Amino acid sequence: MSEKPRSDALIFFGATGDLAFKKIFPALQSLVRRGRLDVPVIGVAKSGWDLAQFVERARDSVTQHGGLDPEVFPKLVALLRYVDGDYADPNTFARLREAMGDAKRPAHYLAIPPSMFPLVVENLAAAGCAENGRVIVEKPFGRDLASARSLNDTLRNVFPESSIFRIDHYLGKEAVQNILYFRFANAFLEPVWNRHHVENVQITMAESFGVKGRGKFYEETGVIRDVMQNHLLQIVSYLTMEAPSSTYAEAIRDEQAKVLRTVRPMAADHVVLGQFKGYRDEPGVAADSTVPTYAVLQLFVDSWRWEGVPFYVRAGKGLATDCTEVTVELKNPPQVVFNEAAPPMGNTVRFRLSPEVTIAVGARVKRHGEEMVGDRVELAMAAEPAQGVGGRMDAYERLLGDAMVGEATLFARQDVVEAAWAIVEPVLRSPGPVYQYETGTWGPVEADRLVAEVGGWNTPT
Ligand code: BG6
Repeated sequence: MSEKPRSDALIFFGATGDLAFKKIFPALQSLVRRGRLDVPVIGVAKSGWDLAQFVERARDSVTQHGGLDPEVFPKLVALLRYVDGDYADPNTFARLREAMGDAKRPAHYLAIPPSMFPLVVENLAAAGCAENGRVIVEKPFGRDLASARSLNDTLRNVFPESSIFRIDHYLGKEAVQNILYFRFANAFLEPVWNRHHVENVQITMAESFGVKGRGKFYEETGVIRDVMQNHLLQIVSYLTMEAPSSTYAEAIRDEQAKVLRTVRPMAADHVVLGQFKGYRDEPGVAADSTVPTYAVLQLFVDSWRWEGVPFYVRAGKGLATDCTEVTVELKNPPQVVFNEAAPPMGNTVRFRLSPEVTIAVGARVKRHGEEMVGDRVELAMAAEPAQGVGGRMDAYERLLGDAMVGEATLFARQDVVEAAWAIVEPVLRSPGPVYQYETGTWGPVEADRLVAEVGGWNTPT
């Protein structure tokens, strides 16, 4: 593999917005700390600000998210520039070109609504800011298959596929990469990781909070576009794909695309949708909104390896806890040796992705005493190194750093994005009933019927 050139400036649009405040400035400070960022960082937005106000915003951001590092923050400030202006005004881009100085290989990060991409991309090209550049865009990539394709055409008018980096921050998470690593770095999983031994797979992404003031955004998105089409289907692809031939970006992304294309498009009777009570009172939400804040999808991966194994993917806001977890449950051994009252739960492999990171293998061991009865135990590994140089890397730090050196593995390739839209599109087109549920619960009881055949939920504890 040839070494790819490093970007020599990072420009981020939407620099005074929410994402920049919560994620981008802290990631930039960490990149500087680790010695991975020493090029100009230019914020662009239309807020009527000057550089001093922009620096203040950066200071507030890192203070509130992870802490200001007194040695590193001044180095970040030395890299910061700010261009204020309207994205529709060519003059904004002329000033951006000026602020870029000698930079010849800029990375443009569009932390702005997708509806603005065409305008920004065309103006970047017209002002000579796009040559030899990269573009980094946020999820969701489109609203459906057709809009994802048209968005892609817009980007492809100016940037080649190898220069487009579609962020799905779940791919930047250590715990998600560990699914891939754990599967293919161990010998004991492969013989059982298939339809002959796996009973069912459950993925739960539970969030106890609501839409946190993002009502307007959420009304246009809903749970399927917000987290299912992207974060959770990426996890499904890592769990189900065949072994890539190497860690070369395209080898991994080829396998992801291949397996997602075998996932059956969602049928209405394999979906349950819900909305938490109180959602309609959130600012920006319609009084009669039917946008789902909860969904369970029962997926079938129609591949040689997975045919017939149900995958239950559920996500929701306003639920009982904050936790993202995957449980792969194996079939029981024959129940003919030990006379235990109820058939015991089979072996499991559990990946907890948040709030803490755990990989655990569940098994039964004999209880002390004369009887041959046992209990379920877990052999668990918890991995959560501290942050700092050599320590834990936040997803955004990892992804921005990777994009700037052209490392594409952890970004969604267009065919992967399209395959994921094709899976969920039938539900988006005809969503069916949306059941109300109380906050602080596990969602609508109607969802339980989907998992009845596998003995219910493996609810995270
Ligand atoms: C974002 C969604 O992509 O992911 C949010 O828009 C969601 O609605 C968030 O809360 C979850 O990310 P994390 O990293 O906190 O699990």
